[in-house]
Amino acid sequence: MWGGRFAEGPAAIMREINASIPFDKALWRQDIAASKAHVAMLGACGIVSDADALAIEAGLDKVAAEYEAEGVPEDWDLEDIHMTTESRLAELIGPVAGRLHTARSRNDQVATDFRLWVRDAMDQADAGLLELQKALVTRGGEHAASIMPGFTHLQAAQPVTLGHHLMAYYEMIRRDRSRFHDARKRMNECPLGSAALAGTGFAIDREMTAQALGFDKPTVNSLDAVSDRDFALDYLQAAAQCALHLSRLAEELILWASQPFSFVRLPDSLSTGSSIMPQKKNPDAAELVRGHAGRIVGCLTALTVTMKGLPLAYSKDMQDDKPPVFEAASLLGLSIAAMTGMIAEATFRTERMREAAELGYATATDLADWLVREAGLPFREAHHVTGAAVKLAESRGVALDKLSLVELQGIDGRIGEGVFKALSVESSVAARASHGGTAPAEVQKRVAEARKALGMA
Ligand code: ARG
Repeated sequence: MWGGRFAEGPAAIMREINASIPFDKALWRQDIAASKAHVAMLGACGIVSDADALAIEAGLDKVAAEYEAEGVPEDWDLEDIHMTTESRLAELIGPVAGRLHTARSRNDQVATDFRLWVRDAMDQADAGLLELQKALVTRGGEHAASIMPGFTHLQAAQPVTLGHHLMAYYEMIRRDRSRFHDARKRMNECPLGSAALAGTGFAIDREMTAQALGFDKPTVNSLDAVSDRDFALDYLQAAAQCALHLSRLAEELILWASQPFSFVRLPDSLSTGSSIMPQKKNPDAAELVRGHAGRIVGCLTALTVTMKGLPLAYSKDMQDDKPPVFEAASLLGLSIAAMTGMIAEATFRTERMREAAELGYATATDLADWLVREAGLPFREAHHVTGAAVKLAESRGVALDKLSLVELQGIDGRIGEGVFKALSVESSVAARASHGGTAPAEVQKRVAEARKALGMA
């Protein structure tokens, strides 16, 4: 492509280190679409003849059909997808192919192709997350009144409902989707026509190419347009945060599936066995979701560090922008799909959860609240009295509501018969009806809102 200026060809190692075709061939659809939009615009603006524009467009269609049928050939001498396509085009239609690159550089070309690819990746993440939200809302609605222990420090804290717990993840995924939406809106400007870095002397119509490729408008600074990879970083940041949420959920499923917890049975279809221990059923899909989150954060770190300190405009370092984005997108897609399957198919062992909620004195706060409400104690004093009751129950090895009234009154004479109603796990969760609380009625309300927001019946 630049033989005119060079006395000798590249060393073998130059060809190898320079080649991005092994990974950027994934951009072939975007590259063809952007080239077709570009040449149609060149034709409309009279920069190439209509006949040449049509010949080039038809040729590009042929190249695309070949790629579709046989895959993209990998010739390191051609470096990347842009030169691979242009070279094949020239083989197919002859020297007229050379007119395609008028008023364009690979710098604005790759910036455009990559934006188109990342935009699709954002849309795919959003579609996958919608399915995960539907699964969470469905299971959350089923279990709006199923009682489980709520934890802080992984110690039994207060009873909550499983529906409330699942809907907590719905909220996280709602924010993840909004991050992808924000990023998509911000990035939807077309760099094509910025050329190498300074713009072009040809009278091109950038609005036309922007529109043809589904962008809201053309970018406004050519230097920024060819050296900006914020859109990829925005994608990776949203992906990393989403992966982090999936990883927390995965961690809980792994813990819940362990024998001491036995809160959940994960579907066989998303578990594996052991080659030596016949009894084993391992939560591998959940573990890989947890593991993939680490790799996705690594992808974000990789591109962040690549971009740091690059002077304007394009530098070849930026060719390294694609592998971390491609890798993160593939890992995130798998993670979302695996998690959706696990949530949809999990068997929640609600009787076990309920039993566990009754252990660990999780209704102690309800006793303290009762003392405040019914006996007029200041909360700190009620906290102290309740602590003594827990101590006594623990020494007897019984639950709080299994202490007798006489025993409780021995701790504080102001405790009355009515307290027992407050000490059951049902009344504990039902009492927490503050906005956003765990009371089954509140959870149902939130589930109904969510179903509406997702367009579910
Ligand atoms: N393969 C290059 C990349 O992916 C295309 C842009 C090359 N531009 C250049 N000035 N060498 O970044």
